[in-house]
Amino acid sequence: MAVLEISGITKSFTSHLSMGRTQVLRGVDLKVEAGEVLGLLGANGAGKTTTLKTAVGLLRPEQGSVRLFGMPITDVRARARMGFLPENPYFYDYLSGREFLDFYARLCGIAPSRRAARVAEMLARVGLEDRADRPLRKFSKGMVQRVGLAQALINEPDLIILDEPMSGLDPIGRREFRDIILELRRNGKAVLFSSHILADAEALCDRVAILRGGKVAACGRLDSMLSDRVRFWEATLSRVDPASLNVPHEKIWQRGEQVVVRLQEAEQVDTLIEEVRRLGGTLRSLVPHRRTLEDLFLGELGYEAPEETKAPAAEKPPIPKSRG
Ligand SMILES: Nc1ncnc2c1ncn2[C@@H]1O[C@H](COP(=O)(O)OP(=O)(O)O)[C@@H](O)[C@H]1O
Ligand SMILES: [Mg+2]
Repeated sequence: MAVLEISGITKSFTSHLSMGRTQVLRGVDLKVEAGEVLGLLGANGAGKTTTLKTAVGLLRPEQGSVRLFGMPITDVRARARMGFLPENPYFYDYLSGREFLDFYARLCGIAPSRRAARVAEMLARVGLEDRADRPLRKFSKGMVQRVGLAQALINEPDLIILDEPMSGLDPIGRREFRDIILELRRNGKAVLFSSHILADAEALCDRVAILRGGKVAACGRLDSMLSDRVRFWEATLSRVDPASLNVPHEKIWQRGEQVVVRLQEAEQVDTLIEEVRRLGGTLRSLVPHRRTLEDLFLGELGYEAPEETKAPAAEKPPIPKSRG
């Protein structure tokens, strides 16, 4: 049974600019299993926050369903096993870090006898033990993120959902954050986090899902999504007349004295090597160009911006579409 299963969710918002509705989610499917870290990637405005808010039950999907630990999202037993860190969290900032966490510990029903110890443990876990009694309004962005993470973990959840958890952290903070997430995974917890920062995803995720055009455009293990996909090969040759080269290729051009050939298939590489030998030339280099996470992210699969469905009766001059 998946820890979290999102099936075919759709969501649209009223767009005040065009008087129409913008469909942000167009059937998102996502599954998170115990012990894995899934990164939800996508450009700004792709719908990551909308997806995560739907996953935690803050938004209701128009269609589709969300199941947590096999239960509907409305079931408190399921919710009790989940922790959530919202994007750009804003907390009541007259409280100190310790008071803030104590408040959440109460909300989660942690017994008074265990509360102080749990709060102290969480503060230590996120590296805030020596600043715990300062009010949150004196916290830096990175410290707010950390206390927010402590809040998300206070009930020892089995599923942790984090919206852009690394934003606002300095390199050391990111490193520490990463270590905490990896430790959660080692302890068999499931983590779903969103990011538009590819390096975070590469460092952390078992699987990634790329949100584009309101759908999961690509999803899979990061290593297999990236490694076994050579997009093309590029060979540099010298002392070869391009006109006599008999090999199926995608492109061929001259670079100074050398000839560059772009090939699509591995078999064509064999043919090319034989041809270079036959013509008495030299193979200077042979480079496989693999797809990168950035290729996937930036729309190797074709970027599709969300469309606006105009209200039929709007008698207004057309307004240019904005990409929020
Ligand atoms: N409450 C809302 N009302 C109207 N539009 C919204 C609302 N929430 C999000 N949107 C729009 O939905 C799109 C996706 O937003 P969001 O889920 O925040 O994307 P992301 O987190 O990937 O940047 C954006 O175009 C945003 O403007
Ligand atoms: Mg967002």
